[in-house]
Amino acid sequence: MPYISIDQLKPGMVLATDVTDTNGRLLLSEGQSIAHKHVGIFKMWGVPEVQVQDAGKGGAGENHAIDPEVTRQVAEMLKPAFSDNDLTHPAVAEIFRQAVIYRSRHAASLHRQGRMEPVKRPSSPITGLDLRKKIRSRDIKLPESPSLIFKLNDTIADPFSSADDIAQVISKSPGLSALLLRIVNSAFYGFPSRIDSVTRAVTIIGSKEISALAVGITTMEIFRDIPKAVFDMQAFTHHSLACGVLARILAAGGNIRNTEQLFVSGLLHDIGRMVIFKYFPQQAGLMLTGANDDKVSLYDMEKIVMGFRHTDIAADLFEKWKFPVALSQNVVYHHRPMAAQDPAKAAIIHLSDMIAHSLGEGKSGEWRVPGLDVAAWDKLRLSSQTLSTVIPQAIHHLGFLMTVFQSGA
Ligand SMILES: [Fe+2]
Ligand SMILES: [Fe+2]
Repeated sequence: MPYISIDQLKPGMVLATDVTDTNGRLLLSEGQSIAHKHVGIFKMWGVPEVQVQDAGKGGAGENHAIDPEVTRQVAEMLKPAFSDNDLTHPAVAEIFRQAVIYRSRHAASLHRQGRMEPVKRPSSPITGLDLRKKIRSRDIKLPESPSLIFKLNDTIADPFSSADDIAQVISKSPGLSALLLRIVNSAFYGFPSRIDSVTRAVTIIGSKEISALAVGITTMEIFRDIPKAVFDMQAFTHHSLACGVLARILAAGGNIRNTEQLFVSGLLHDIGRMVIFKYFPQQAGLMLTGANDDKVSLYDMEKIVMGFRHTDIAADLFEKWKFPVALSQNVVYHHRPMAAQDPAKAAIIHLSDMIAHSLGEGKSGEWRVPGLDVAAWDKLRLSSQTLSTVIPQAIHHLGFLMTVFQSGA
């Protein structure tokens, strides 16, 4: 049954499936007739569209909104990017379907953007192992942990630290505090009353979640100044945020307990690439061009050009910056989640990354949609039906969060 955008709902339409908010709380059950007040409730909780019965009798379903010829063309253009995926797998099929609908609605964003200017490729790859050795031996220094991150990670690791201790560290940066409060007061976090101080945010939402959020925001800030000639960081932030938003919503819709840090794990999942763009721009150029020319994934080009991957850099950086192990694991294993200590959480980031690429929400330098790890998908015990609810919800929240992040800390 088709989806109807909230703006096109008419009183009297009947829900074909339950409507929930981002935390999985039921807003209106399947079979209920939609009244005017429900539309307001759906909007307030960030529900962008719902499935209704008898949509053909006056609704404006997806097929009414999109020219079938556009949809066909978009599907054809998107198929090569899915070549690492099995389109007959139910989850992949649903993600592909959602991506086609979304991209058809935003046909202008079909063109891949922001690739680097082609860089002359060397006749043989540079010796990446030497580079890795240099990073390890600190001949090439990874950035030092900014003092705010150092203090936060220290406070998180201290079992005796209080909500006040954490709030005090965060409050030292007024920009960070303001951005953090804007995020926790958004419909994405979905608290009914306003949270007006960092201390209150820590008390209500939890010290781990808030500290992780502060660490995530601060870390993203460090890489904000990467020149556009190297990579479009606004698009990179968009991809990172998309992954974070999807991760939090997917976790809420699945069987994941202790979902704290999943938003930030998504936000920071490609931190290794940010390090490469900032500190190894020449190698970044080789990889991006190579991945483009050779139809090889950027993930594999990293190995060819440098001898290691962005996830290895993330492991080194997180170790140096003393990031919480759980967060580090989610990030380091997002391309091979079943090897993580907690495979379900790494699988959430893996799936979110794959969906973000499918939708074309921002960019990471990778034009191929990473192949879905079927074992990781099975581990999550999600239904493909869940994806049809989660993806539109995530897109809705992403728009607002991008505006918040662009305003900066
Ligand atoms: Fe990645
Ligand atoms: Fe990614």
